[in-house]
Amino acid sequence: MEKWQRYKYLPVLPLGENNSLITGSKKHTELSRKAATEGMVLLKNDNSVLPIKNGTKVALFGKASVDYVKGGGGSGDVTTAYVHNLCDGMEEKQSEGKIEVFESLNGFYRENVKKQYGENIAPGKTTEPKIPKELLKEAADTCDLAVISICRYSNEGADRTEENDFYLTAEEKNMIDAVTEKFENTVVVLNVGGMVDTSWFINNTKIPAVLLAWQGGMEGGKAEADILCGDACPSGRLTDTFASSFADYPSSYNFHESENYVEYTDDIFVGYRYFFTIPGTVEKVNYPFGFGLSYTSFKVETQRVDLTEDILSLTVKVTNIGKMAGKQVIQIYSASPVGLLDKPAFELRDFGKTRNLAPNQSQEMNFKIDIKEFASYSEEKAAYILEKGTYGIYVGISALEKEEVFTFELANSRITQSLTNLCVPKKLSRRLKSDGNFETLETTEYEKVYDTSDWPTKPTWKFEHIQPDFRDTVIPKERKLLESVVDGEVTLNEFIAQLSIEDLVDIVGGRPNQGVANTWGIGDLYPFGIPAVMTADGPAGLRIKPEVGVCTTAWPCATLLACTWDTETVCEVGAAAALEVKENNIGMWLTPALNIHRSPLCGRNFEYYSEDPVVSGKIASALVKGIQSQGVSSCVKHFCCNNKETNRFASDSRVSERALREIYLKGFKIVVEKAKPWAIMTSYNILNGTYTSENRELIKGILRDEWGYNGLVVSDWGNWAEHYRELKAGNNLRMPSSGGKRLLKALELGLTEREELEENAKYILEWIIKMA
Ligand code: BGC
Repeated sequence: MEKWQRYKYLPVLPLGENNSLITGSKKHTELSRKAATEGMVLLKNDNSVLPIKNGTKVALFGKASVDYVKGGGGSGDVTTAYVHNLCDGMEEKQSEGKIEVFESLNGFYRENVKKQYGENIAPGKTTEPKIPKELLKEAADTCDLAVISICRYSNEGADRTEENDFYLTAEEKNMIDAVTEKFENTVVVLNVGGMVDTSWFINNTKIPAVLLAWQGGMEGGKAEADILCGDACPSGRLTDTFASSFADYPSSYNFHESENYVEYTDDIFVGYRYFFTIPGTVEKVNYPFGFGLSYTSFKVETQRVDLTEDILSLTVKVTNIGKMAGKQVIQIYSASPVGLLDKPAFELRDFGKTRNLAPNQSQEMNFKIDIKEFASYSEEKAAYILEKGTYGIYVGISALEKEEVFTFELANSRITQSLTNLCVPKKLSRRLKSDGNFETLETTEYEKVYDTSDWPTKPTWKFEHIQPDFRDTVIPKERKLLESVVDGEVTLNEFIAQLSIEDLVDIVGGRPNQGVANTWGIGDLYPFGIPAVMTADGPAGLRIKPEVGVCTTAWPCATLLACTWDTETVCEVGAAAALEVKENNIGMWLTPALNIHRSPLCGRNFEYYSEDPVVSGKIASALVKGIQSQGVSSCVKHFCCNNKETNRFASDSRVSERALREIYLKGFKIVVEKAKPWAIMTSYNILNGTYTSENRELIKGILRDEWGYNGLVVSDWGNWAEHYRELKAGNNLRMPSSGGKRLLKALELGLTEREELEENAKYILEWIIKMA
């Protein structure tokens, strides 16, 4: 294969077996369905109502049984050939002779939803219709079981609301009341992308079973039916805490206090770190982090724990003691002594999922954890400290169901890593302590940045040609093209030295779309043999615009994938999805996204993994490894603290240095160390007064110097930051388009110089050289 063949000629080269196309193939949609069953979480199953017994006559209620939400909207949406809903899934089970479905109801919802779509109401945004009286009566008279579906849709660029979103709508409440009044047993299926209210069913005896089915991709409805009918055994577990009301989440106090900033006053006490530490809050948990039921049961025995030279080794034996084959997730937590620093009650350190265990089958799982990971960050000392005292190690299956298996004593405190204070907040006014009180912090003003308000207009999504059109350029024979760097004929520095300032200005910005791309590309300097490598969105699948006519596979939403706790499955999904990216001649997949689920209302939580950085980091690493195993670049995003969507281009995330390091950056650090992503995307928001893409302390200080990251750093598309300041900070590439004339203006004023452009262009060209 010729170097950069796919990017230079955009050929149709199928990657499936026997020269078939792999994009949207059966192989992939089947994997999507399987992955979806792995991450759905069974929240409630009183009297073993599920799985539905053979021969049961089922009535499917709720417009969501037709208006199935495969994933969230915005850049995370995917164009697919079809989407299977729960009616499709249950009708398939009926055709296999497993159950009977009350079809008139399916017909009613199909027609109603079609009508609402016809009125331009977007999928997932339809209103719950009133069930016709006679249909409800007939269903109640002839069916044994009711299944109610509730769906939620959210998208990039907007946050969710407490009313009619976190909580049920009035129409949904009426429908639920009408059904539960008539049926002895009702099963609820939640087709949602993030945390929702669970108080309406937790103690409702009329609702003995609830499946948190998430947004499961294009096969999601069929995967739901697989679980409901027992063709798959649920093994998903929560990666977030489900509290009894919205107000119980500490982020709810000030999430929307201002459009212009968010004070992260909950500090390190996010999710279970809050609910299990702050006095009087554990009672407010409906379903704890890590929780999930199964159709089978497991015995968990810790067989060995050993601590040698900072490495804690554990062997845990898991035995299936139930009647159905299934998988179990093992979670390892540790508790650190409170000393100089406040501590959460415990923190997740590692996890693993068993293979599918038949009844009576066992598996031994081994874990190795460096106890230096237990160190906490002291802002005063600018260092991670492992404090003296007693440490506890817990093995369990949720934050609540765990037991202490080992303790050890450290006689002296020790510094495990000395650093420099970076990204320190200036306007965070207070932060939560473990006793539930707030510590008041001193605030100061931000330093003013150079005023660029009278510079040429920002091009954002408009391409600015700095160079003339190259297409007819005759390339001089003696010119060294980029391939001569690949061949070792010249060094990259020698190659870069040939480029003019205008060439460099072009390179450090994105390039127009080619082929099926819609998020623009990188490189594209024909006279120097630099190919244009296109990018495409994720994370739920390769996103190609509908008008192109290429349908791809929609995988389950990121939160569902995290709830699999299964790094192998996630890696498999990453590799399969990357093949679709490659087949369509795209080099960078703008995936994974791993911002922390700080508030249930963040409109993009469906694209993110968890409230916990270890889950986020490990799941993201698995995806990145899968993607890059196919020679496709991942682009880990949004670095960092993009935890709300309202005014996302200009909102200041005010967060303490400790919470930043221990919660919001930790997942990114794990991915950088474990999976070496080829690219990282900075976020739109401001972090403690400076745009993340202009934040030198964040990019050069933490990402490059502390973590040793040497891949490419790109801005988020059309952010409001200033290009020359991004280059200074180490944000190498501005997407989707260069700062163009503004960057030339900055050069003219001496605010940046050729050397800085060269330094950034080097990362871009190194990235292009990596591409096949
Ligand atoms: C989103 C990114 C996305 C990019 C390109 C931005 O609006 O925040 O996640 O990758 O657009 O579509």
